[in-house]
Amino acid sequence: MTNKEIKIAYQEFNSINELSAKDKELAQAAIDATGQAYAPYSNFNVGAAVMFEDGQIVKGSNQENAAYPSGICAERTALFYASASRPDIAMSALAIAAVQNGELCKTPVTPCGACRQVMSQYQLKSGRPMTILLVGAEKIWKFSKVDDLLPLMFDSI
Ligand code: THU
Repeated sequence: MTNKEIKIAYQEFNSINELSAKDKELAQAAIDATGQAYAPYSNFNVGAAVMFEDGQIVKGSNQENAAYPSGICAERTALFYASASRPDIAMSALAIAAVQNGELCKTPVTPCGACRQVMSQYQLKSGRPMTILLVGAEKIWKFSKVDDLLPLMFDSI
């Protein structure tokens, strides 16, 4: 028997002003996207923004449904939209933010398992690491690749 350990790494920032210009632009797009959420059941407005390798940004937000499981998270809205609209362009980064009671959440919102799996697929499709920015009002967490949010991810098919 061998004991094994997996380490993940990420960076923490205290304000979006500490980010590089590109990261700041993407973080701001995710914050802006929260305004387009349709979340009448949870009132938890999530925004996501994908940056392509050429710098173009597309946004997505959570879209809820009276039949709850039919709704979808902001991350998957943005990632599916990105791949459907520019299927041949690699994605380089994804930013996520959430607004509750009219205020940007202080600590970053961490994506659900299904969204992490979908991120891993588009990282694989893009053939390059996808940076993930989890944007809170008081803390921002930056992961340099999806692997750090989903160790041992399934990609073997
Ligand atoms: N949600 C997201 O859009 N992304 C996340 O990372 C967490 C949860 C949505 C799903 C649902 O519309 C609402 O937030 C409450 O769970």
